[in-house]
Amino acid sequence: MTTTFNLEELVRKNVLKLIPYSSARDEFTGFKNPMIFLDANENPFNNGVNRYPDPQQHSVKEVLAEQKGVLESQILLGNGSDEVLDLIYRVFCEPKVDNIITLPPTYGMYKVLSEINDIENREVLLTEDFELNIAAILEQIDRNTKLIFICSPNNPTGNIFNTEAISTLLKSFKGMVVVDEAYIDFSSQSSWVNRLEEFPNLIVTQTLSKAYGMAGIRLGICYASQDVIALINKVKPPYNVNELTQIKALERLRNPQLIRSEINSILEAKDSLLKALVRLDWIEKVYPSEANFLLLKVDSAKERYQQLIERGIVIRDRSTQPLCENTLRITIGTQPENTKLIEVLKTI
Ligand SMILES: Cc1ncc(COP(=O)(O)O)c(C=O)c1O
Repeated sequence: MTTTFNLEELVRKNVLKLIPYSSARDEFTGFKNPMIFLDANENPFNNGVNRYPDPQQHSVKEVLAEQKGVLESQILLGNGSDEVLDLIYRVFCEPKVDNIITLPPTYGMYKVLSEINDIENREVLLTEDFELNIAAILEQIDRNTKLIFICSPNNPTGNIFNTEAISTLLKSFKGMVVVDEAYIDFSSQSSWVNRLEEFPNLIVTQTLSKAYGMAGIRLGICYASQDVIALINKVKPPYNVNELTQIKALERLRNPQLIRSEINSILEAKDSLLKALVRLDWIEKVYPSEANFLLLKVDSAKERYQQLIERGIVIRDRSTQPLCENTLRITIGTQPENTKLIEVLKTI
C-alpha cells in the first residue's frame, strides 16, 4: 500500500502516454464570426442535429459549475453515470493486475464493470446494519488497489454513509475513492462535491437519471480535481454526449425550482408510503432511506413480488444480494401510483 497520494503512479501507463483523438470540433473552437464548416464531413443541410455536438459540452458544464460551485474543468460528462464509471476503471485499472474494492449489497454495475475490464473485485460486505466496515476495507487494500466504490445513498439499502467513515477512507487510502451520489438530491446531507479541494483522491459521480427526471437522455456527471478530469477526458469517446441530450439537460438544469418541487413531492409520497407500510403485518422492517426508494424486509419476497405483479405493479426483489434475504425495493412513484400501491398492498 502506497503512503502518499501520487496521481501519476495510480494511472495506467498507456493512459499517461496516450495522445487523445483530436476531433474537428476540438481543433477549431473560435466561433466569434459566422464560419463555414467544411471540416467534419457532416451533411451541410441544417435540421438541428446535422452537426456534431460540442465534445466538451461547455453550456451544460457552465450551468453545473455555477450550481455546484466547482470549475468547469472539474466536470466530465458521460452517457449516463454508467459510462463515467467505466471510464474511471479504464483510466486507473490495469487489466489482470490491479484490483478494486466494492461494498455489497450495492449497485450491481461496479461488479459487472470490473468483470468487463478484467479487474479483480474485492468485496467487503457492509455490516448487518448496512454501515461501512472500515477495518475490513483497509485490510483488503494492497499496492494494486486502485479504486474503492462507495454508493451513498446506497442502492439498494437506501442509507447514506457516515461522513467520518468516508473521510477516514479518503485519508488512509492513497488510491481513488469514488463516491457514487446517484441519489444525493433526495438526501438532507450535503454532497461530497463540496469537499473536492480537501481530497485529491476523491471522485464524485452524479446523474440526471434520478431526481432530475431524465433517465431517458443518459447524462452522467463526474466531479474531481482538474488533473483527474483531464485524464478521464483523454479516454472518453469524442462525442459521447449527443446534441439532443445537451439541449434537454440545459432546459431542465435551468429550472431548478421545478426539479426541487418534484423532489419534494417524491419525498412527501415516500413519507406517506412509509406510514402505510409499517402498518402491514407481513412487512418485518422498512429500512431508513435517504433515496427515492424504500427497502423492505418481508415474510416471503418471492411470493409478495409475484402477488404484486399479478395486480399490475412491478417492484424489485433484492433477495439475491448479500444481507438482503427476503427484501423488496420499491421506487417512489406519483401520489396516485402510491395510493394504488397502498390499496393493493392492503389486499395481499
Ligand atoms: C447507485 C447508482 N449509480 C449509477 C446508476 C446509473 O445511473 P445512470 O442512469 O446515470 O447510468 C444507478 C442506476 O440505477 C444507480 O442506482
